[in-house]
Amino acid sequence: MEAIILAGGYGTRLRPLTYTRAKSLLPIMNQPMVSYLMRMLPSEVSKVILAVNYRKDQIEEYFKQQTFGKEIIVNDEPKPLGTGGAVKFAEKHISGPFFVLNADIICSLDISKMIKYHKKKKAAATISLWPVERVSEFGVVDIKQNGNVISFVEKPKPEDAPSNLINAGAYYLQPEVLDYIATGRLVSMEKEIFPQIISDTGRFYGYQLSGYWIDVGRIQSYIDVHKLLLTEKNTDFIMGKHTMNRGIATTSCLGNHVTIHSGVHLSECVVLDHSIIDKNSSCTHCVIGENVQIGEDVLLRNVVVGDAEDIAAETKLENSIVWNQSIPEDYPKKQIGNVIGE
Ligand code: GTP
Repeated sequence: MEAIILAGGYGTRLRPLTYTRAKSLLPIMNQPMVSYLMRMLPSEVSKVILAVNYRKDQIEEYFKQQTFGKEIIVNDEPKPLGTGGAVKFAEKHISGPFFVLNADIICSLDISKMIKYHKKKKAAATISLWPVERVSEFGVVDIKQNGNVISFVEKPKPEDAPSNLINAGAYYLQPEVLDYIATGRLVSMEKEIFPQIISDTGRFYGYQLSGYWIDVGRIQSYIDVHKLLLTEKNTDFIMGKHTMNRGIATTSCLGNHVTIHSGVHLSECVVLDHSIIDKNSSCTHCVIGENVQIGEDVLLRNVVVGDAEDIAAETKLENSIVWNQSIPEDYPKKQIGNVIGE
């Protein structure tokens, strides 16, 4: 069985971290984001098609070193085709019912159980669902008791919401779904294809997952996923290899080859590889990119520092993004494609 991992987005909401890397390779607890999905795939998935575009060389390079026991195909789109277009572009590699996964979800989905559910329902498409509290920020499903999805309702008022369940970014699809997707153009699976399948087949089902789920689409959720996984591991702090911590770090993750000098306070921070934080600096709710140098007595709160940036001693910053280098030429000025639950 094949699984397509959608990993071609620019990840604009995670800039500046995505100016320099593919979103799916952004480390989470010091492991590339995509590695969590790869480990979630059951043994019946023997082939993984990575639908890539932006920063595809980095993804190709990563999968040269790591195959997770699967056949890996890096399927490079000539231009971003959207979540639907990317699936269509992978059609030649599909031999039967297949999985599609957004690369930016971290969750405890049991894929084998979802496949069983799909088969039992004789569905054309089954999507994973996750319950949320703030329905007005998401697209929620209108779903019958038996799991049959009737429609998607975008950002409803709480009193009008047909359910509190949102699309959780994992789909199991019959090959017939591919016939609904146009070739060679930007197509949104969620906005164009799913509604069509609902109205044409009536065999569109939702499978509610239990445990945990985070869409790592934004800086806030990037910090949140670390908090969640730290809690899952029953710890408050982790650090990678060759890292020296002489400061105090709570609810934080330090990458490899990081140096934290004495008197430093970190709280709710993610510090990526090879960064240095000098004496008596304090960072709260921050993401510090790779190869960053932070001087002495710096105060950062709600700040994202892009890779290879320097922060001078005694700088004070709040609610900002630090990026003083050029933006990649092809990088979009605003979010493209689709987002359910922006
Ligand atoms: P934002 O720009 O912050 O919205 O992020 P994104 O570009 O990743 O978009 P979004 O979060 O909506 O994408 C959901 C998933 O689909 C992510 O795993 C993306 O990598 C992937 N994706 C989005 N657009 C494309 C595309 O055009 N081609 C491919 N192959 N994947 C895509």
